[in-house]
Amino acid sequence: MKILVIHGPNLNMLGKREPDIYGTATLDDINKRLSSLAAELGVEVACFQSNHEGELVQKIQEAMGAYEAIVINPGAYTHTSVALRDAISSTGIPVVETHLSNIYKREEFRKHSYISGVSVGQISGFGVDSYLLALRAASGLGKDSGRKKC
Ligand code: DQA
Repeated sequence: MKILVIHGPNLNMLGKREPDIYGTATLDDINKRLSSLAAELGVEVACFQSNHEGELVQKIQEAMGAYEAIVINPGAYTHTSVALRDAISSTGIPVVETHLSNIYKREEFRKHSYISGVSVGQISGFGVDSYLLALRAASGLGKDSGRKKC
């Protein structure tokens, strides 16, 4: 099973960016932890980061036929992007939305996600573990595992 992990804007700054909120791990540290977990779970993972909305849309479109699930931290585009939402629903690929911080405990504008309505589920607030939990969840969404519904 192939899983695409997408990191949105400003996540390339992790490690330096507001460490009290986002922790001290860099994006590279997170990607390495994801790769080790992927090996443990027996799935393939590819990671992509962009600060540009259009590039993220493009990557989601290109995932069609190439990946069976997507883990996405859309960063600030979570709260603004109808384009990312539409890209996700166009592909039909199951998506797990993830956030390092608990977006419901922060400013009002972060409490709304355009992405959650087109995601299988969301994991928010566990720092780097949010990504690892999201990868575990995504690994259960492959064709053979049966789509989990509740
Ligand atoms: C974030 C939360 C967003 O509100 C913020 O804009 C980010 C990071 C998180 O991982 O906690 O860039 O997605």
